Amino acid sequence: SRVRHYKFDVSMRKTTRLCSSKPIVLVNNRFPGPTLYAREGDTVLINVVNHVKYNVSIHWHGIRQLRTGWADGPAYITQCPIQPGQNYVYNFTITGQRGTLFWHAHILWLRATVHGAIVIHPKLGVPYPFPKPHREIVVVLGEWWKSDTENVINQALKSGLAPNVSDAHTINGLPGSSYMLRIVNAALNEELFFKIAGHKLTVVEVDATYVKPFKTDTILIAPGQTTNVIVDADQNSGKYLVAVSPFMDSPIAVDNVTATATLHYSGILANAPTTFTKPPPQNATPIAENFLQSLRSLNSKRFPAKVPLTVDHSLFFTVGLGINPCPSCRAGNGSRVVASINNVTFVMPTTALLQAHYFKTSGVFTTDFPANPPSVYNYTGTPPANLGTTTGTKVYRLPYNATVQIVLQDTSIISPENHPIHLHGFNFFVVGRGLGNYNPKKDAKNFNLVDPVERNTVGVPSGGWTAIRFRADNPGVWFMHCHLEVHTTWGLKMAFLVENGKGPNESILPPPKDLPQC
Ligand code: C2O
Repeated sequence: SRVRHYKFDVSMRKTTRLCSSKPIVLVNNRFPGPTLYAREGDTVLINVVNHVKYNVSIHWHGIRQLRTGWADGPAYITQCPIQPGQNYVYNFTITGQRGTLFWHAHILWLRATVHGAIVIHPKLGVPYPFPKPHREIVVVLGEWWKSDTENVINQALKSGLAPNVSDAHTINGLPGSSYMLRIVNAALNEELFFKIAGHKLTVVEVDATYVKPFKTDTILIAPGQTTNVIVDADQNSGKYLVAVSPFMDSPIAVDNVTATATLHYSGILANAPTTFTKPPPQNATPIAENFLQSLRSLNSKRFPAKVPLTVDHSLFFTVGLGINPCPSCRAGNGSRVVASINNVTFVMPTTALLQAHYFKTSGVFTTDFPANPPSVYNYTGTPPANLGTTTGTKVYRLPYNATVQIVLQDTSIISPENHPIHLHGFNFFVVGRGLGNYNPKKDAKNFNLVDPVERNTVGVPSGGWTAIRFRADNPGVWFMHCHLEVHTTWGLKMAFLVENGKGPNESILPPPKDLPQC
């Protein structure tokens, strides 16, 4: 293993897409930003220099950050933002992970354009658990917003209405012949289907964990998720359409934008025929379910699935929307849409939670995040009369190494929606999922505790639930939130505080000297 140095210059640049030109924030003047390459075991130092007028922070999405929460990146959770004209060196070691992840800005709306892939190769001389592809290609799925992203999010906050859907998806190039695609969904708000005309995709990895390989026509990928697929270039010479289209089974969402790219076999004639493909309909729940049911941990000798078999903390979290009074809101008749977990709308602190925890600063957060919702109701049926939420900066405290189960239950308040929930600092096992209300007696019996897929972001189905398990073996403060930016902004977020253990390597390391101050 070695030490790798990167420099990320965050600056403003005028860019033209879809016939509209506007200044956007970029890293090293690239969109998507540079791919970060490393090997398992490497230490990576990224000097992030802020040349723009906004506060900035970068999150290394899916990197475990064992004992190095200071380098995790979410603003006001693990660090104060990097202010204009300042810099911060993110310093972490990649332990026990290899595969595709991504990095993105973790402050307000900036991640729309400030994102890029992370490719972690296995240790030198260690093969993949599947035949080596000839080539590897990074495919970053993003969004391009014609209006300014800041306005889009502000519009969502002020009006209390859902924001405009994005105008198009952008896909970076797809040349080549026989390859592994490392697909990243860096979009702000859209779960996506991805398919290639005339080709089967063999899924081998999700969220940088190996899965039992399986073939499929279509993959489903939520914001915050990554998926590696092998494509065999086994068709006749020609051009093949790659289709990326949104999956939305919420009754109120509308988005008909489909992005396309083409896959060319090298050396083909310019007039070679094009094979088209029809993207799945927007509400293709059966295709989505079928794909998700096929995902299993590889669970081999070399890569065992270490599913916690007992549970110390059993949590039941409702995830959904709500409506709170907002006297200053002009739209929405003096009320606004909010989002919550267990009816708590998270309030961002003005200093970082991890700093407050480490330096024992009181008054920044409380540790009373509820293990259960305040009242029992028919979560996926008719919503309760009072749609209001409580507000606060509440965390849930966990002793070091505790085993945790969280049942994430979608609610139909305002509308059922699919929520891709991302947990920082850990991978978790997706032990169960279903539609309707979770039934502890019935559903827990069917949990997969043998080879459930292991990931860092999971979709809670629209009008359904998902159960996850993880071991709290990483001391620090770890954000958990919906990876739909608009829901995060509305408050669908909370944090776990994991205490230090007693052993020699069970405490968070001291903060780096250049840690930004608020
Ligand atoms: Cu990819 Cu907290 O985010």
